[in-house]
Amino acid sequence: MSEPVQLPLRPGGDEDVDLVLRGGTVIDSSGERRADVVIRGRDVVAVGEDLSGNDVIDVSGCIVAPGLVDLHTHLRQPGKEEAETIESGSRAAALGGYTAVLAMPNTTPAIDCAAVVREVLELGRSACCDVHTSGAITVDRAGDRLAPLAEMAALGVKLFTDDGAGVQDDLLMRRAMEYGRGLGVTLAQHCEVASLSAGTCMHEGEWSARLGLPGQPAEAEELMVMRDIALGRLTGARLHFLHMSTAGSVALIAAARASGMDLTAEAAPHHFTLTDACCADYDATFKVHPPLRGEADVAAISRALADNTISAIATDHAPHCPEDKELPFEQAPPGMLGLEYALALAITQLVDGPASMSLADVLARLSWQPAAIARMERHGRPVAPGSPANLCVIDPHHTWTIDDSGGASRSRNVPYVGREVRGRVRHTVCEGVVTVRNGEAQQ
Ligand code: DOR
Ligand code: ZN
Repeated sequence: MSEPVQLPLRPGGDEDVDLVLRGGTVIDSSGERRADVVIRGRDVVAVGEDLSGNDVIDVSGCIVAPGLVDLHTHLRQPGKEEAETIESGSRAAALGGYTAVLAMPNTTPAIDCAAVVREVLELGRSACCDVHTSGAITVDRAGDRLAPLAEMAALGVKLFTDDGAGVQDDLLMRRAMEYGRGLGVTLAQHCEVASLSAGTCMHEGEWSARLGLPGQPAEAEELMVMRDIALGRLTGARLHFLHMSTAGSVALIAAARASGMDLTAEAAPHHFTLTDACCADYDATFKVHPPLRGEADVAAISRALADNTISAIATDHAPHCPEDKELPFEQAPPGMLGLEYALALAITQLVDGPASMSLADVLARLSWQPAAIARMERHGRPVAPGSPANLCVIDPHHTWTIDDSGGASRSRNVPYVGREVRGRVRHTVCEGVVTVRNGEAQQ
């Protein structure tokens, strides 16, 4: 197989400036310690006590951590630039503490061939964070025939998905896994059996019955998790399950991982924060796929994040224009914003809530574990000399109330309006460039 084409790195920080993050507590995969961090060019050059430089940022009382990594971002470019662009989405990401995002391929045209991969990566070079992309498994995500995975893999695409839909055909999914295994890439599934979910707009349960809305059962997700585990066993492919939302899925994944399968899963903030009761007013802000579930499912997702059965929090940031989200619940598109809220929601729900996770474990799910799943080698690294300077600085004491502005996104479909949350991103540094300073995006 040919070597991947090396696309040029995004521009790095100033070689003539020693930027110092002074007085913070570093938390990374190697533990926690008080230390100053010096950044030059695109790297961390020193970590220790009483370090100085010519651009000093006081970060006392704050956490200095590897930048967050989002495995699931809908950037909407090409094709739906009125809802989001790579530029606006990456700015939202930087404000949320992210230094890298993985773009989802359900754009127009779909990211299903080398030409579109190139376009997205080139637009990403001037973005506020590192922009990686996934590629579609099937041509135009139509589920009929395999996309040219090899030509996308040659451009560095490491994860393939038809996200927005699951691959329904069992044989085609088997072939994708066989082919993907040979290429050394990961197959990521949006688990939803279309014949069970067609025509539905929320979770099937007490609330769908009460509201008179057609619901999809948890089994629409769980049957595809089951099938893919079986096919993964058959083919030996590396699998990743997107936005897991039910207790049953968690149990299946835990059993498969315990049996030694090479398999990972992610959960989205809304699935550990919101329930189907949020749909009570027919407000389509709360419509999402997979749908918001019941309380027992929300608790199971939180526990699965705590015990690492689900090892990544991924936003599923899904911007939609107001005119689309104002449609009746059944007709509105599914999806909600996430990039600027994920960290604070994770701290509020998972550290301060019943799951009682440590901040270090939450950061593992938001940074170094997703970086490992996506094999983004420049992200999630320990904060140490020689590591790429992809970092975020978090004030864990700052409490704030989420508003309906939508932040830097071009859309405003925020389902958390009015919620008080803890934890705020103060600064973000991507490849040595300060992308967020004092809570303000720098470009
Ligand atoms: O709610 C969702 N929105 N789920 C998906 O899988 C796709 C996404 C979107 O693209 O809006
Ligand atoms: Zn999806």
